[in-house]
Amino acid sequence: MSIKSQAELKKLQAIGRIVRMTLDEMSAAVHPGTTTGEIDSVGAAALAKYGAESSPPKVYGFPGTACISVNDEAIHGIPGSRTIAEGDLVKLDLTAEKDGFVADAAVTVRVGTVSATADALTRCAESAFRQALKVATVGNRVYEIGRSVEREVRRCGFSVIKELCGHGVGRTIHEEPCVPNHFDPRFRTKLTDGLVITIEPIISAGNGSAHLQPDKWTVCTTDNSLAAHYEHTIVITKGAPMLLTVA
Ligand code: CO
Repeated sequence: MSIKSQAELKKLQAIGRIVRMTLDEMSAAVHPGTTTGEIDSVGAAALAKYGAESSPPKVYGFPGTACISVNDEAIHGIPGSRTIAEGDLVKLDLTAEKDGFVADAAVTVRVGTVSATADALTRCAESAFRQALKVATVGNRVYEIGRSVEREVRRCGFSVIKELCGHGVGRTIHEEPCVPNHFDPRFRTKLTDGLVITIEPIISAGNGSAHLQPDKWTVCTTDNSLAAHYEHTIVITKGAPMLLTVA
């Protein structure tokens, strides 16, 4: 969507804050011995407390509140009986709505002491997001975001998972435009004032290829390498973008 009024902005900021607070509560619940289902329940309880609703079950029939993906699982992991272990990388991806407005964010949680690669990969997803923010401004084209993400991820020695992209958001979970994490000149849409999008590097420590699991939801790296994910919902402005999924 493109924000047209202060009232719309206020509602988006409200759901953005709720997504952040819920993700923070979920992150704090990630411990060795906890199941992904228990972490999901923390998210469900938090959303209920804030009067918000998870979008993926409503829109796509996703069987959980948040997507919880561990280690080589990149995105759309189904919460359940899997037990978290020391050294795991746990990706929490939450999209929620309130009053008809939707925000989306993701974070990678390092469980206890993780490998040097896992640590570097997690930091890289965030630094790639920060680099992309610098070009996410009115007048630039969508492909500039992918170019920045890809450049930073390569500099770190890792790979973008090219099939998985950011997107427009605000009234429903996936809107136009598609925001790839790699440079693709076909994505020429110009960023305009008030446009609401996600920037979400989804990266792997291996060659970047990924495939859908038999559960039809979870996307795993094909070479079983670790994956990391970092995401905020942002508003494009003439200056620095406004981050919505912040406290
Ligand atoms: Co997203």
